[in-house]
Amino acid sequence: MSGSRIVVGVTGGIAAYKAVGAIRSFVLAGHDVQVIATEAALRFIGAPTFEAISRNPLATDLYDGVAEVRHVALGQRADLIVIAPATANTIAKLANGIADDLLGNTVLASRAPLLIAPAMHTEMWQHPATVANMATLHERGVHVVGPGVGQLTGSDSGAGRMAEPEEIAEAARGILERGRDLAGLRVLVTAGGTREPIDPVRFIGNRSSGRQGVALAEAARDRGAEVTLIAAHLDVPAPSGVAVHEVGTTRELQLAVERLAPEQHAVIMAAAVADYRPAETSEGKLKKDGTGAGLELRLVENPDVLAGLGADRPDGVVLVGFAAETEPDDERLLELGRAKIARKGADLLVLNRVGWTEGFASPRNTIAIIDRAGDRVGEASGDKLVVAHRILDAIRPLTSI
Ligand code: CTP
Repeated sequence: MSGSRIVVGVTGGIAAYKAVGAIRSFVLAGHDVQVIATEAALRFIGAPTFEAISRNPLATDLYDGVAEVRHVALGQRADLIVIAPATANTIAKLANGIADDLLGNTVLASRAPLLIAPAMHTEMWQHPATVANMATLHERGVHVVGPGVGQLTGSDSGAGRMAEPEEIAEAARGILERGRDLAGLRVLVTAGGTREPIDPVRFIGNRSSGRQGVALAEAARDRGAEVTLIAAHLDVPAPSGVAVHEVGTTRELQLAVERLAPEQHAVIMAAAVADYRPAETSEGKLKKDGTGAGLELRLVENPDVLAGLGADRPDGVVLVGFAAETEPDDERLLELGRAKIARKGADLLVLNRVGWTEGFASPRNTIAIIDRAGDRVGEASGDKLVVAHRILDAIRPLTSI
């Protein structure tokens, strides 16, 4: 993909000289490259080198171009920010949102994907502070290329050597291409948990927060899809730029899904759907009778929305189900998943483990994806947005456009 706007942040490490090669690859691939070098970077490589190679004036000082609020302008217009080399200090600042220079401010002012190429000595790379900072960046969905293992600056060698310029260019290309890879696709996502009223003030429900479904809607939107979200009692706000239909009960969700599914290229059933509802809903609030006799509620089964779609599948729609299971054993979890995907007639099933402390309401998730043959075709662990992208990566090749 040529013609993207890439901001390349160069920070103060000896590997800054290798960043010049990556910048050159971006320019030769037809991208508009804006280099932001930190003061420390300029102790390794001179400004004329960056300007000549990037074919643009270098940006360094936060206090230049204040009138046009430059850090915001640079951040907002970027399609991708690449930081190479990313020193231990830079990684620590990124993990903590510190904005004490033009690069830090630009990163915070941007919604573009961020790719970093760490470079440092092995001891620094393995220091618990760096390990914790990298974990934070991974969770936030930051892309990381390298570091490799090899000869370091001195006579020693080990992990911490910055990725080669070609590797950085390749990683950037992957991110930019995936950037709009769902353009032209209509994607329907259900999120949250349905609730079945017992009376005007009580319901039978579940603990789903809707976070994973919302992350899927957000990720699909960012990759260019036209997204519709069927929202059942979300704990988190629905993303902007997505058409939202609010539903309460399983039967309301079913109506919305069945109406919208035939227009979609993919239907992702991330919502936790109540399997049963009270046979009767009381018009007034149920009163306790005070005899100590207890209360019996009779439940009737709800329609299985996904299985219904699977049995009477709208043309060309990829169907994706979720299976939240409490089974602790990995192999048995997979077996449950295989039985479920067959029963539901879905193309893919996203398996995750839930429990008293796992899955629901957490910003993180751990999933495995299986296909109709029961084969594991993907897995992911981390921030729900990162997991959402992996799920979309598995769906993309199954769609017809
Ligand atoms: N689902 C659905 N309609 C239902 C129940 C579930 O469409 N009445 C969908 C969910 O949105 C999810 C998938 O089916 O994508 C699996 O949901 P899950 O609750 O794990 O499965 P159940 O069918 O309820 O099976 P079981 O309770 O036996 O685990």
